[in-house]
Amino acid sequence: MLAEGAGAAEAAEGAENFPAKAAVPREHFASRLGFILISAGCAIGLGNVWRFPYIAGEYGGAAFILMYLVFLVILGLPVMVMEFAVGRASQRSAALAFDILQPSRRWHWFSWWAYIGCMLLMMFYTTVCGWMLAYMAKMATGTFVGLDPDGVAGVFGAMLANPGEMIGWMLVVILIGFAVCSFGLQKGVERVTKVMMVALLLVMGVLVVRSVTLPGAAAGLEFYLVPDFSKMFEGGWAGFGDAVYAAMGQAFFTLSLGISAMEVFGSRIGKKHSLTGEALRICGLDTMVAILAGFIIFPACFAFAVAPDQGPALVFVTLPNVFEQMPLGQLWGTLFFVFMSFAALSTIIAVFENIITFTMERWNLDRRTAILRTGALITVLSLPCALGFNVLAGVTVPGIGDIQSIEDFIVSNNMLPLGSLLYVVFCLSRKGWGWKNFLKEADTGAGAPFPRWSRVWLTYGLPALIVVIFIMGYVPKFMLWLGLA
Ligand code: PHE
Repeated sequence: MLAEGAGAAEAAEGAENFPAKAAVPREHFASRLGFILISAGCAIGLGNVWRFPYIAGEYGGAAFILMYLVFLVILGLPVMVMEFAVGRASQRSAALAFDILQPSRRWHWFSWWAYIGCMLLMMFYTTVCGWMLAYMAKMATGTFVGLDPDGVAGVFGAMLANPGEMIGWMLVVILIGFAVCSFGLQKGVERVTKVMMVALLLVMGVLVVRSVTLPGAAAGLEFYLVPDFSKMFEGGWAGFGDAVYAAMGQAFFTLSLGISAMEVFGSRIGKKHSLTGEALRICGLDTMVAILAGFIIFPACFAFAVAPDQGPALVFVTLPNVFEQMPLGQLWGTLFFVFMSFAALSTIIAVFENIITFTMERWNLDRRTAILRTGALITVLSLPCALGFNVLAGVTVPGIGDIQSIEDFIVSNNMLPLGSLLYVVFCLSRKGWGWKNFLKEADTGAGAPFPRWSRVWLTYGLPALIVVIFIMGYVPKFMLWLGLA
């Protein structure tokens, strides 16, 4: 289909100058809103609605959130602009973008970083998204009615232990994702994601109002919003180090940075708007959803005297107890998991679309073939995670955990921060794309320009910070592996 989006004409024109493999005109988003909501849909996911609330709960609520917000601005935002700029300038996915912008092919290998990173992410994301769908069904059918806390925990345990159930829900997720992508960018991905994101925002609004108006909700808001720096230092400086590490990891994870997941959406827009402005809007939406997820979870937990600091089990073990005690709890519980499922599915669809585009460009395939190949591959590769809680439960790495934790660790703790660092090097160094080229692309169009003064920070500060925090994260692991801890 011909590019129709705002400013698409100029972009298509630019693309003709590139030695791209496929000579087909590139499909662009039908509207700017589509671009913003899909990028936000990619960003808004389990990271916002599941991971953010529980790590904020663990590290002292508002004190942690403040640090996280700082990292979003000084680390996340610039890298998001860079991903979009690489995509928009090359008009290609990560499969060809680096070779187009740096024809020496010195950066060719960085294409694979994107492909492998997105694949690894999906290898566990499909399973966890499946849990959300499963819980939506369980809530709606009254599975938790009349259960005590042990009973509720038992439901989660039984699901994890059942390979058939785990694989079944994972397959449903994969089918939905590829079905949407099979209708194409505008007719499938854009149309469905737009509806899903608007519904997500509406349901979230309803749930926030319900939660903060519960009797006793104030204590939850206090826990969430009043900074408690002592909690951050509970484990001394090492504990503080953990919090900094978690905040940085979360900043990259929640914005989907470092594995070119966002890059591809830059390749599907025109030049009407500056990229810094667009990135600000997307970061804003993402942050709003993360923070509001906490407004749903913490007041409800406190209103029913349930401890909110139980880590990853927060959503699956703690919350069903809360809904169990709430008037009309079955309704609120179901709506809550609809909200969670939409957040997770919008990310799945976005990343599938990215892998499909990569596959089409890299191997010169049509969309149908690319979907069939990618679908088969993701299905097979998702199996270890789904089985890692039962049949393969014995497969663990000390200091990291089960298969899901291993996959998550490789992507979230390694590929995302290092990939983000590589983007910065690519966009700043003359051996990559270079600062001037990057700035020109980022600032094309109306809207906020990319701040010039940030160059010093991006050249020295940001790389140093990422490296230091990265090493800090490994120190406790090495201590453990070497038997020193
Ligand atoms: N941002 C997504 C979330 O919050 C996760 C993600 C990370 C997606 C990296 C794509 C790339 O769940």
